[in-house]
Amino acid sequence: MTLHSMWEPFPTLQNDLTKTLAIMENSLHIKNKDVEQAIIEMIRAGGKLLRPAYQILFAQFGTEKDENKILALAAAIEMLHTATLIHDDIVDDSDLRRNLPTVRARFGNATAVYAGDYLFVACFRIMADYATSMKSLQMNSRSMEKILAGELGQMDKHYYTEVTVDDYLENISGKTAELFALSCAIGAFESGSTKMFSKKASEIGHNIGMAFQILDDILDYSQDRDAIGKPVLEDVRQGIYSLPLLYALEQNPTALKPLLAKKEQMTPDEALAVLHIVEETKGVERAQKLATKYTDDALKAIQKLPNHPDGVKETLLEITKLILHREN
Ligand code: IPE
Ligand code: IPE
Ligand code: MG
Ligand code: MG
Repeated sequence: MTLHSMWEPFPTLQNDLTKTLAIMENSLHIKNKDVEQAIIEMIRAGGKLLRPAYQILFAQFGTEKDENKILALAAAIEMLHTATLIHDDIVDDSDLRRNLPTVRARFGNATAVYAGDYLFVACFRIMADYATSMKSLQMNSRSMEKILAGELGQMDKHYYTEVTVDDYLENISGKTAELFALSCAIGAFESGSTKMFSKKASEIGHNIGMAFQILDDILDYSQDRDAIGKPVLEDVRQGIYSLPLLYALEQNPTALKPLLAKKEQMTPDEALAVLHIVEETKGVERAQKLATKYTDDALKAIQKLPNHPDGVKETLLEITKLILHREN
């Protein structure tokens, strides 16, 4: 299995992530061939594996070095992430993920629902088998609730042009930043770090996740489909008004609101017109600025972590910077 090229400069991590993918596949025990195939294809589709990467890196600061456990817990979190993506593509009616047809598009909604369900359950099975502390399971279930709350918060504001930047930040804090926070916290906590260190790890993960989602939302406005492996201008067509558009709405509501009022009937030309207004009003630049602020906060906090002999801190700094300049 080939990993995303971003890991090439980090051979130890690359090795750990390859093992994590193998654990994910080996943890599947499903009789239904479509559900099994759907999950295997997702696992092999080349996701970036950012969450397990942060989890593994934060685990290096602990006193306990049980590799089997660390990688199994990393696999569990990536399975949770994969489940949210499979279900998200049903909700968003999306055809393309990781440059391949989505599970929904290839196998239909029923298989996609069950594939996601299976991954949620498998995540908890692995957590229950490997986590030392009940607190980790508690943290996991609380995070899942927050992820759901973020998704529901976004759904409640569908096609609502008065949605505020604060609403947006609250929703992405749940739907995306929470899982980054959890990954960092579980990595730290389950490897014997103190509660205080795990809390720090969680805060760092939160800021990374905020920057990550803002970047993802920017890519929807500024890249082409092949480059990002997902459809573009999809959010606005789906009534999801993300940060670049919210900034543009502040600047030029008169031009934007009639276009947005078209809802489901928005044509590709109208979506392009929205894109032009977002560009003219510097919506992308302003969003980029806020993402940079979250990244900078994360980088400052990482700088303050204890030095690690294997250069873990430097790796954390590098990948966190990389995320801010990513193109897919
Ligand atoms: C996609 O996450 C969902 C968001 C939170 C934006 P990733 O971009 O990490 O997805 P993969 O796993 O690399 O495909
Ligand atoms: C990502 O949702 C968050 C979750 C899957 C929980 P999005 O809808 O913003 O992500 P993409 O753009 O489809 O990857
Ligand atoms: Mg989506
Ligand atoms: Mg979505």
